Amino acid sequence: MAAEQMRVTKSADEMTKSTNRLRPLLRLWPWLWRYKRVLLGASVALLVAAAATLSLPVALRYLIDFGFSAGHSQHIDAAFLAMFAVAAVMATATALRYFMVTWIGERLIADLRAEVYRHVLTLSPVFFETTRTGEVLSRLSTDTTLIQTVIGSSVSIVLRNLLLFGGGLVMLMVTSPSLTLMILLMIPVVLVPILVYGRKVRRLSRASQDRVADTSSTAQEVLSSMTTVQAFHREPFETARYARAVEGAFGTAVQRIRSRAILTFLAILLMFGAIVLVLWLGAQAVVDGRMTPGELGQFLLYALFTGGALAALSESWGEIQRAAGATERLIELLDTPLALQVPARPVALVAPVKGEIRFEAVDFAYPSQPERKVLENFSLHVRPGETVALVGPSGAGKSTVFQLLLRFYDIQGGRILLDGQDIAACAPGAVRESLSIVPQEPVLFADTALENIRYGRLDATDAEVEHAAQHAAADAFIRAQPDGYACFLGERGVRLSGGQKQRIAIARALLKNAAVVLLDEATSALDAESEQAVQQALDELTRERTSLVIAHRLATVRSADRIVVMDQGQVVASGTHQELLAQGGLYARLAKLQFRDA
Ligand SMILES: Nc1ncnc2c1ncn2[C@@H]1O[C@H](COP(=O)(O)OP(=O)(O)OP(=O)(O)O)[C@@H](O)[C@H]1O
Ligand SMILES: [Mg+2]
Repeated sequence: MAAEQMRVTKSADEMTKSTNRLRPLLRLWPWLWRYKRVLLGASVALLVAAAATLSLPVALRYLIDFGFSAGHSQHIDAAFLAMFAVAAVMATATALRYFMVTWIGERLIADLRAEVYRHVLTLSPVFFETTRTGEVLSRLSTDTTLIQTVIGSSVSIVLRNLLLFGGGLVMLMVTSPSLTLMILLMIPVVLVPILVYGRKVRRLSRASQDRVADTSSTAQEVLSSMTTVQAFHREPFETARYARAVEGAFGTAVQRIRSRAILTFLAILLMFGAIVLVLWLGAQAVVDGRMTPGELGQFLLYALFTGGALAALSESWGEIQRAAGATERLIELLDTPLALQVPARPVALVAPVKGEIRFEAVDFAYPSQPERKVLENFSLHVRPGETVALVGPSGAGKSTVFQLLLRFYDIQGGRILLDGQDIAACAPGAVRESLSIVPQEPVLFADTALENIRYGRLDATDAEVEHAAQHAAADAFIRAQPDGYACFLGERGVRLSGGQKQRIAIARALLKNAAVVLLDEATSALDAESEQAVQQALDELTRERTSLVIAHRLATVRSADRIVVMDQGQVVASGTHQELLAQGGLYARLAKLQFRDA
């Protein structure tokens, strides 16, 4: 608990640094301004409703001072008729305001969600190495929901009550300047504690949202790795971990609601205390004949409106501050830089891409470990149509070569050229379009086999998908599934075996039909028979395209045009299978181990 407290205090300190507490909300303005017509309509409705409300006390005074004296029954009729008319106007305007303001709230959130999501999807892997996906999800759902309630309701409550407060104050002035002066003197006494506490509520609100995000990211991570959790029998451990996160969130929430409760207490007590005092003075004025009973009635109603408006304002103030906190978290996400140096005016690759690849003295360290060079002075030239195999011990940097070609990271030294064009000068998307990868760990989506393969090329026909599956030796096992190609593969493809997942991934890459093929241990999980079947397809795939093939099983790369041996981020040898054997280096050693039995 002490640790939790510390964290809360820390983020509270960070908050105080921000110069303006509501500034984050201003960032929402451009989004709101897109719907200026609705905004205008809502404002008109708001004004009309407030004006109608403010005219009611006048009708009341009329009623008391003229209607109740004998012989003025027509005044009574007129007064009640007027009151009903006002009520009708008020009802209409309020309903319209509700509709329009809520509409804007929903619209804003829909836009904001889509925009934040779009932005997050463009972020480089660096972002996802440092941020937990659960955290992002929480911001997308919880924080946007909070903003939605505030824009959809609290803002209109605030505006309405600001109007009522202002209008009420003016009308109080009109009704009795001396009594109003009394009220004005008391306003600071009422407002100062409210503002002080409001500030506190906001700080705690941000902390509270952070804790909620903690709980959901904890859960998200565990739920997506259930079999590992259960295999190690870590359910009690994970349950306790989640419970701690939940308790942390609860603790922060309690602090928040305590401040809110105190805020409410202060607001109501101070406000009504002030009104009672003023009323007491008013009653004396009526007794002394300085005021008519109707005027006092009117004054009383306005005082109630004004006081009620102030109470509602203080109530919503906390909400709005919470929303400011949530907006801040969302905007933070939106402001996250790409981490990748993408030129403002990218150079286009000349179509069709031939697939010549050149690494020139590339130095690279992953951003999370900037001092540890994973590739050092790495040079490699792959001619169009050539098949080059990358072999070497685990951790040598083979997959990293693919990551860099895919332009997931910026390199620290050297150049990477595709068709003679520095890929750093191109749009990352354009570079990736010309590469087709079968990753070391195939990633499938919770969808059907058909759609999972079609992910390689979205406009492929069913027949093309099946054709690709046949070539990847995936057709037979897909057809053996209960619904064939329409079979649901489960989240991340959990319903398939490792080798089956690989073949789906290969089919996907085949379908993409890009100029360059990157195979990272594409057949490592296959049995000898399926591997042979797939290998034929891969040979066909790699024959007419530039291909980079990573494999531990040297048997699969013997047919490559050239084999490049990597160790500790550098090329240590290169040549054909026979040449490398003859050289007797690392490759010969690996080959001896692997082919000993054969
Ligand atoms: N995202 C990352 N952040 C930091 N370091 C990383 C990251 N990915 C890989 N590394 C490190 O970079 C080095 C090279 O990794 P890489 O994945 O390229 O190896 P590999 O040759 O493909 O090995 P394997 O044959 O086991 O797949 C490793 O030491 C690894 O720890
Ligand atoms: Mg690898």
